[in-house]
Amino acid sequence: MCGIASRRKADELIANGEVSVNGAIVTELGTIVHPGRDRVFYSGKEVAAVDAPVYLVMNKPRDTITTSNDERGRTTVMDILHARKRVYPIGRLDRNTTGVLLFTNDGEFAHRLMHPKYQIPKAYLVTCAEVVTREHLEELRTGVRLDRVKTAPAEVLVIPGGKGKEVGITIHEGMNRQVRRMFEVLGYDVRKLDRVAYGPITKEGLPRGASRALTPQEVRRLKSMAGIEEE
Ligand code: URA
Repeated sequence: MCGIASRRKADELIANGEVSVNGAIVTELGTIVHPGRDRVFYSGKEVAAVDAPVYLVMNKPRDTITTSNDERGRTTVMDILHARKRVYPIGRLDRNTTGVLLFTNDGEFAHRLMHPKYQIPKAYLVTCAEVVTREHLEELRTGVRLDRVKTAPAEVLVIPGGKGKEVGITIHEGMNRQVRRMFEVLGYDVRKLDRVAYGPITKEGLPRGASRALTPQEVRRLKSMAGIEEE
């Protein structure tokens, strides 16, 4: 809870004699300390419990920037979040991309969710100005070249009733502006981009611009997808 290590890793640090309490090395696991009264040191530095973790989801509207502070005074996602605790966005959505954006103050959680190793699926609804051809749908599926990197296989489907211009795409990586660039290199003009899901988290029931806390079950599912053990 001090932002140093996972629970298991903390046990190792303690057992290795790397942690002291009130000036004495403590190697016994389960030793009780009282925050604010006992002084705990690791690696020569005093540690303190950080805030209780917070996990939020926003249905991001258009024309908002995913940053904490915009020098040019444009509206940021933090301006409309109204969080009581200090949190930050997990990854980013472009200014005019809408949909699911997660926030937390849990550094390990954010890091793991964004790490390519865990391949958290992110689903987008793309609205193009043109009808997307069958050949291009296949290319999006197998991978397109962005600069020198080929994108990993993606799930792609045409949205019924979308006149062939609306495509659902699920990617498992997160290169910069990846979805827009995938369509742009194939010659399409992306009119709208909406993230409909981040792993199991959707924006169902959440109006544009609104946010809510994730349920404990949602947090558990995300943690398990990101290989984080629950205590
Ligand atoms: N891909 C994009 O191109 N933009 C986003 O905002 C998210 C994914």
